[in-house]
Amino acid sequence: MSDLLTIEDISVSYGNIKALRNVSMLVAKGDIVCLIGANGAGKSTLLKAIVGLESLESGRILYKDEVIAADRASHAHSLPTNIIVSKGIALVPEGRRVFADMTVEENLDMGAFLNKDDAAVARKKEEMFDFFPILGERRRQKTRSLSGGEQQMMAVARALMSNPEILLLDEPGLGLAPLVIQDIFSKLAIINKEDKVTIFLVEQNARMALRSSNEGYVMETGRIVLHDKASELLKNQKVKSAYLGE
Ligand SMILES: Nc1ncnc2c1ncn2[C@@H]1O[C@H](COP(=O)(O)OP(=O)(O)OP(=O)(O)O)[C@@H](O)[C@H]1O
Ligand SMILES: [Mg+2]
Repeated sequence: MSDLLTIEDISVSYGNIKALRNVSMLVAKGDIVCLIGANGAGKSTLLKAIVGLESLESGRILYKDEVIAADRASHAHSLPTNIIVSKGIALVPEGRRVFADMTVEENLDMGAFLNKDDAAVARKKEEMFDFFPILGERRRQKTRSLSGGEQQMMAVARALMSNPEILLLDEPGLGLAPLVIQDIFSKLAIINKEDKVTIFLVEQNARMALRSSNEGYVMETGRIVLHDKASELLKNQKVKSAYLGE
């Protein structure tokens, strides 16, 4: 399988806080890849760097062999977020970031803001309402009235409105009950398998993330400390004691 997303030796700092230190990762087309790590490890920073929301101190990020982000010293230049999204990368941000005063339908429209083809947007919306029936039922309801799980589904549907080839998810299970998390992960598996959307997710819920993924990476204080098949990481003694509570 070919690599869709290539992260090469990137570092990101906030003032004198080094959030990412020489991180390299590969996401192959068609895979589900997860990144696990504790609070403050640098997971969100990595996702933000991929979509151009944090600048690189060193290294570069390639999407289908094209440089989308690079450090200032290199001659390649970083693309703005809207261009990165238009190339097929969508982010479901941490904490969902829904527009609470907008209806479900209006939120989905926001996810398709780059698409000027109204008929295609309307079709895509109906597809989302078929796939997430609860959102169809609530389409004219204000988003703030949805449950946490429903809001997360909506955040995923909103990201899918841009027809991404790769979906980045920042802790989709955060604050949700185990059954709701399971429901979300089973939807992600369908999106991956049937719609051929590559998935890169970061999670603190290591067990659920690793069980759902092909490949896994473990991050500690800004560094990748382990990388293997997800099934191997589930058996790894260090992962078991540090992340699986075994
Ligand atoms: N805007 C910012 N300004 C300064 N420091 C920041 C900023 N954002 C993140 N950091 C710091 O960078 C480090 C990595 O943060 P990041 O949010 O990427 O971690 P995370 O792995 O996503 O954590 P969590 O699991 O809690 O979401 C932390 O030490 C954090 O305090
Ligand atoms: Mg985070």
